[in-house]
Amino acid sequence: MAIKFIATSITFTTLLGLAGCGGGGSAPVEQEPDTDPLVLKQDLGKRLFSDTNLSTPPGQSCASCHEAVTGFADPDSNLPVSQGVHLDRFGNRNAPTVAYAVQAPEFHFDQNRQKYIGGQFVDGRAANLAEQAKQPFLNPLEMANPDKFTVVQKIRDSDYADLFEQVYGVDSLNDTETAFDQVADAIATFEKMEQFSPFTSKFDFVMKGEEQFTEQERRGFQLFDGKGQCFVCHQFPLSTDHSYSNLGVPKNPDNPFYTVAAEFNPDGSDFVDWGLGANPNLVTAASLENGKFKVPTLRNVAITAPYMHNGVFKTLEEVVNFYNTRDVLPRCGATGTSGVDCWPAPEVAENVDTELLGNLGLTNEEVADLVAFLKTLTDGYVPPQ
Ligand code: HEC
Ligand code: HEC
Repeated sequence: MAIKFIATSITFTTLLGLAGCGGGGSAPVEQEPDTDPLVLKQDLGKRLFSDTNLSTPPGQSCASCHEAVTGFADPDSNLPVSQGVHLDRFGNRNAPTVAYAVQAPEFHFDQNRQKYIGGQFVDGRAANLAEQAKQPFLNPLEMANPDKFTVVQKIRDSDYADLFEQVYGVDSLNDTETAFDQVADAIATFEKMEQFSPFTSKFDFVMKGEEQFTEQERRGFQLFDGKGQCFVCHQFPLSTDHSYSNLGVPKNPDNPFYTVAAEFNPDGSDFVDWGLGANPNLVTAASLENGKFKVPTLRNVAITAPYMHNGVFKTLEEVVNFYNTRDVLPRCGATGTSGVDCWPAPEVAENVDTELLGNLGLTNEEVADLVAFLKTLTDGYVPPQ
């Protein structure tokens, strides 16, 4: 396992070809940084990603919901989902991390495995990063611009309009359609940078033989790779195989999406998130995919609470307890405390995976060991010298 991991991780680093990327800081700078086309495009992507003027009204950028300090997930961990630039609007889902998102293959149906793989968003509805980046600008529950022209106009008026033209050519901001595609291209280029896929967690140093797990972390890793069956879906080095599963996650009664105006959610609290089943690009029967969500990376999971597509679980202990006893405890009724003496019904009862989870037979100590291991996946670890 360890050897296989190291081999794959080297391939990834090489594939990314990151040595020359700007923002790395420590690499000796041989070329003029402001003339390298890639560096310019990355810089433009960064400006676009963090420009809070690119919403209507101004106030929200991509970074507002995907901040570096919280692993590029939503910094507001008190909310299960994200608040839009209109403060009375909320999306239906928990913001995933943008870190390692570039590692997902394009959305496709794998004939051999008979499974959907990859794509962006928890239902894979955007094929890749550039397609994904176009959506938040125009989503009324997020950055809420009325149209592409508004976004491009804001960039034309910005102090980095020159940089945009340097990257995409003089007058490139005059054609709204191509300029909007170029916005997405620049953002995707930024998201491909090493800072989004650093592989600098304690786990990575242990795998390179430069650090050691504590006893508890080591036990947790063994459980992850064994009795817990976590590795089947959360494969390293990325801790995901980019496939989709329905874990039987319950609805989140505290989801503020249930309260948004009927024009955005006509179903109110009866709203059901069908996940992959509602992806418009399926080539097979949607009923077989209802309730499935993309297996997320577990990298940085300790700093990206809450958890699952609807943020129903607040702590890692709760997540692991759910895997452990979903099918052991009775269903919550009028009484009972979720996760303590019962679990609520799944949001979507079809296609629930009953083979790999639900009754793992983990002791309380083993649950704690698994959580300790998950906490070794946070990037920015500095091994003792
Ligand atoms: C209001 C909060 C909010 C804003 C603003 C926002 N996002 Fe997101 N982002 C989310 C949520 C919520 C999801 C998950 C939605 C879904 O899967 O349907 C998401 C998903 C993503 C994903 C997919 C990650 C994955 O693993 O599938 C990427 C990449 C991403 N956002 C990048 C961006 C970019 C680029 C912008 C700016 C153009 C942006 N986001 C603006 C909340 C936000
Ligand atoms: C059958 C595949 C599968 C197995 C096995 C599995 N997971 Fe998951 N995991 C998923 C999927 C899919 C999600 C997202 C579900 C959702 O959003 O509704 C997820 C989500 C999570 C999350 C929340 C991540 C986040 O950012 O919200 C954690 C933590 C997690 N899994 C840990 C584990 C651990 C620990 C194990 C082993 C005990 C495990 N998983 C086993 C598929 C799996």
